Amino acid sequence: MPAGFQQLGGERVTGTLALSVFTAVLGSLQFGYNIGVINAPQKIIEQDYNATWMHRYEQPIPVGTLTSLWSLSVAIFSVGGMLSSFCVGVISEWLGRRKAMLINNLMAFIGGGMMGMSKLCRSFEMMILGRFIIGTYCGLASGLVPMYVGEIAPTSLRGALGTLHQLAIVTGILVAQILGLDSLLGSEELWPVLMGVTVLPTVLQMALLPFCPESPRYLYIIRCQEHHAKSGLRRLTGRQEVGDALAEMKEEKRRMDMERKVSIAELFRSPLYRQPIIIAILLQLSQQLSGINAIFYYSTSIFQKAGVQSPVYATIGAGAVNCAFTVVSLFLVEKMGRRTLHMLGLAGMCLCAVIMTMALALLDRVPWMSYISMLAIFGFVAFFEVGPGPIPWFFVAELFSQGPRPAAMAVAGCSNWTANFIIGMGFQYIADACGPYVFLIFAVLLLFFLLFTFFRVPETRGKTFDQISASFQRHPANMMDLDMDMDMDLGKTSTELEYLGEG
Ligand code: GLC
Repeated sequence: MPAGFQQLGGERVTGTLALSVFTAVLGSLQFGYNIGVINAPQKIIEQDYNATWMHRYEQPIPVGTLTSLWSLSVAIFSVGGMLSSFCVGVISEWLGRRKAMLINNLMAFIGGGMMGMSKLCRSFEMMILGRFIIGTYCGLASGLVPMYVGEIAPTSLRGALGTLHQLAIVTGILVAQILGLDSLLGSEELWPVLMGVTVLPTVLQMALLPFCPESPRYLYIIRCQEHHAKSGLRRLTGRQEVGDALAEMKEEKRRMDMERKVSIAELFRSPLYRQPIIIAILLQLSQQLSGINAIFYYSTSIFQKAGVQSPVYATIGAGAVNCAFTVVSLFLVEKMGRRTLHMLGLAGMCLCAVIMTMALALLDRVPWMSYISMLAIFGFVAFFEVGPGPIPWFFVAELFSQGPRPAAMAVAGCSNWTANFIIGMGFQYIADACGPYVFLIFAVLLLFFLLFTFFRVPETRGKTFDQISASFQRHPANMMDLDMDMDMDLGKTSTELEYLGEG
């Protein structure tokens, strides 16, 4: 834990809390690793696909087939994520948060193992299937980790600890980018190791999870195990007296007992949940449709087109900026609040996208524009991590109480992965069609999400889950909002939501 961390919210970070958060975010680390790992070794893996083809059919692989096989290898990861993220709710309720994370590791073993062995077995099918399975692992982790961390974190540290999920993702991306250099594991012989090492954090997580307590909120509110919940709370807070935390959960449970069980369909049907679920989905879309993964999947070719000399190192530079600014967000999120940081990030990204477009358009006439576009890309990534990167992940868990939370996490996660898939598959085609103007599309989307956040997204910093969901329930906005339409008079709900704002 960083030194100043304990003062962030005036709350003590105990050894058990630190260990539990660290253990959980090992899943996020793998998520990031598998996002970043596929970028650098593309050419050498393609050569192996070709060799396999030659071995089987005694002729080189047709170019079109190779492109399709490669796109499939990249994109099937998000298909796995899309499908499994949708099951987060059911699985986390059935097994509990901790056991679900434990069992999910099986997927990482199978996926990592298949990718690592695919060269030896001369099978690109194994590689593709392995990417799909590791995608399902990551989809589950992307829901389970923020849910678990959000539930065990004290209110005043929920944002900072929630940001650690994203910090682990970006660290995973950076590690993958560095290990993927051809002088390290990105070589012809070693790429299977590069794919397979994803199981290392899995082993560590499996070894540590038994020492982490199950989420006391889950134990008490869902499983009605007051005794176990109490002992978990004592370990997490380091206090014998946990009456206040328990009282807060009791209140949440009381409220939940009055509600029916919340299904996914109900999230949209019920006026109580419709507003937070739309906010949750749009926040996830703001993260993915900002265009960030256009950078992380295709940065090398973007830097090449921008005339940057060592595109691979520029990609690693982007990864480093990505990590550095997630740390900045970690320290700001409990001070400045989620809403402000998210808006700051979106506005900065929008500006950088415009600058990038101008630089790319002027590149033929003004050679030093390549530096400007590189700086604009770094700026784009930096602003992303200030808000749109970390915040949507934990914000969803904050918007809902224990009852609807799992269903909401599933819907939000699935929206995130679907948008991720669309960008991963579609960006190259759109980039070919639009040339240097492709980032203008993202600029327009970013502007839309900025306005949406300004008018609709409440501040949740320092509020208990119960206070947050109660304010959605209590406020007449929901009653008036029965037919909420995103294109409706936006100004109206801004004032309706101000009661949640922090100034
Ligand atoms: C977020 C996104 C992920 C993206 C990453 C970049 O975690 O969910 O798709 O690649 O940030 O840092």
